[in-house]
Amino acid sequence: MNVTLILYESKYGTGKTIANTICPVLGPAKSFDINEAPQDIKYYSNIVFIFSLYGSNSGEKIISYIRDNQLDLSKKRVGLVCVGLNKEDGLKQIKKMKEIINKKDAFTTFIEGEMIIEKLTSEDKSQIKDFCSKIKTPFDDLGKLDYDKVLDLSKNLREYFNTPQFIPPTNITKKEIESFLKNKNTCTLATCYKNFVRTTPIEYEYYDGNIYIISEGGLKFIGLLNNNNISLCVYENYTNMNNLCGLQIGGDAELIEPRSEEYIEILSRKELKIENISKLPFDMNIIKIIPKKYEFLYSKFKQLGFDSKQIYIPK
Ligand SMILES: Cc1cc2nc3c(=O)[nH]c(=O)nc-3n(C[C@H](O)[C@H](O)[C@H](O)COP(=O)(O)O)c2cc1C
Repeated sequence: MNVTLILYESKYGTGKTIANTICPVLGPAKSFDINEAPQDIKYYSNIVFIFSLYGSNSGEKIISYIRDNQLDLSKKRVGLVCVGLNKEDGLKQIKKMKEIINKKDAFTTFIEGEMIIEKLTSEDKSQIKDFCSKIKTPFDDLGKLDYDKVLDLSKNLREYFNTPQFIPPTNITKKEIESFLKNKNTCTLATCYKNFVRTTPIEYEYYDGNIYIISEGGLKFIGLLNNNNISLCVYENYTNMNNLCGLQIGGDAELIEPRSEEYIEILSRKELKIENISKLPFDMNIIKIIPKKYEFLYSKFKQLGFDSKQIYIPK
């Protein structure tokens, strides 16, 4: 299983907030304060180190943890997340950390943290006060943790950790996806607009790389008319962990012009005549979905010697 360990070194809670926010997105994952970090990391395929900037003391507990436990990170995927007020300081510290863990391909990022004067210990308060007067800056709260940036981080990290290592040739992934989609005929279509989210179970047709849905109407059009980003999934019922099959597709949706050539062609593939459809006392809408990304969790890939989750991006 692709399990993630998150370790944070945080004095005033910013790093902790980041760790606990990204944890469920990265799941299966567990987040620990570095002071309570497990010594045995064999269950974990991925490790995220989150450390906040404190001058020359930045990330010192994480560094000791790595050294004291002689962590072998060679077969792990590693994320380094630096939290602080000054990006330049952050980039320097990330470089240093990257050398310590000796992982050239580590995922690295800097996130702006925050410093709230009221929270500081008296020692830190006087240190910061001196610093502010030295650089002629008002002694005041600084920085603001941006929640959206934390969510972006969680998405980027998840994509990094989920990139399969054992990948079949693209034509095999594509073939398996196509044959699964052709075998099924019902998907769950997710649409959204502002706070309105809707999932709709609906019949589809997969044809020549696109997905077509014929619909009389409904609330999904609130999303579709305002936001062409959609997500849909097609899956088998769960039986056991060795028999997983679920396809998630992200893509763009468009409405086909009624009575256009493409509209008539789609109907005719369904053996529906435009004359009959035009006689109906209501409009028939056709949604075309152009897939941009397929994520296919399919145990068959594992049986073939690959990672069970594969990603396919159509050209
Ligand atoms: C005593 C002290 C020293 C700091 N030193 C730096 C620094 O060298 N560079 C920087 O960018 N931020 C510095 N900061 C800002 C912190 O990195 C920032 O407040 C961060 O969000 C704290 O994270 P935490 O809440 O996880 O401890 C310092 C803050 C304090 C209180």
